[in-house]
Amino acid sequence: MKKITPAVFLEKKQSREKLVLLTAYDYLIAQIEDEVGIDGILVGDSVGMVLMGRENTLSVTMDIMVHHTSCVSRAVKNSLVIADMPFLSYQISAEEALRNAGRLVVEGGAQAVKLEGPVSKFGDAISKIVHAGIPVMGHIGLTPQSVLEIGGYKVQGRSEECRERLKREAKELEEAGCFAIVLECIPRDLAKEITESLTIPTIGIGAGPDCDGQILVCYDILGWGKARFAKTYFDVRSEIKKAFENYISEVKEGKYPEDKHSYT
Ligand code: KIV
Repeated sequence: MKKITPAVFLEKKQSREKLVLLTAYDYLIAQIEDEVGIDGILVGDSVGMVLMGRENTLSVTMDIMVHHTSCVSRAVKNSLVIADMPFLSYQISAEEALRNAGRLVVEGGAQAVKLEGPVSKFGDAISKIVHAGIPVMGHIGLTPQSVLEIGGYKVQGRSEECRERLKREAKELEEAGCFAIVLECIPRDLAKEITESLTIPTIGIGAGPDCDGQILVCYDILGWGKARFAKTYFDVRSEIKKAFENYISEVKEGKYPEDKHSYT
């Protein structure tokens, strides 16, 4: 299988081949995603909510991101490993942003980083990271790190003003050197318009089918997904539950362990 790089992302946009991405936070899931040919594996700061039970992503730290990124990158041979920059890791100064992006690459083994928000706020950080040779993925629309400002996880880009702003932000992220942009929770016609206006690929989540690629939280396709855009491809959650229930019954009934599970 071919090693996926940001240049491959661009080639796939040009040849209209869909890009398929998933999140992963650990070695085991990342290994399977890599084996089946997922193009990009995002170590999302969603780890805070999905794996750590936190209310939002704001308390996810650089240390947490470095830890999970290193678990994922150790498993991956071909996919592009992209690490999320957590809240306050790039907002304070461009220098801190570069230092933190560098940690995700050097200590975590990431091959690219993603950060949320527009060039008008984080252009200096994006330029500094890109100029240091670290590919940057943008992220606009619903940006979960702005949940306090937005007041919840709501679809963005419904008003004319917001549509125009998002189109402008996408163009500016492309000009700033991002190699791809995540479009989260925006109307499908807006995502289509943005996708057609850019030379770099758009990766949609809750943004309809016309983006150049799709990304989902891995557990949202395994039976844990609640969002409208989630789809259960296999209900792993139910299967795990059954396995745990069977284990409880068998231990209680003295059926486990059998002789073959015991040492003599
Ligand atoms: O943190 C995350 O998982 C994301 C997504 C785009 C799914 O940013």
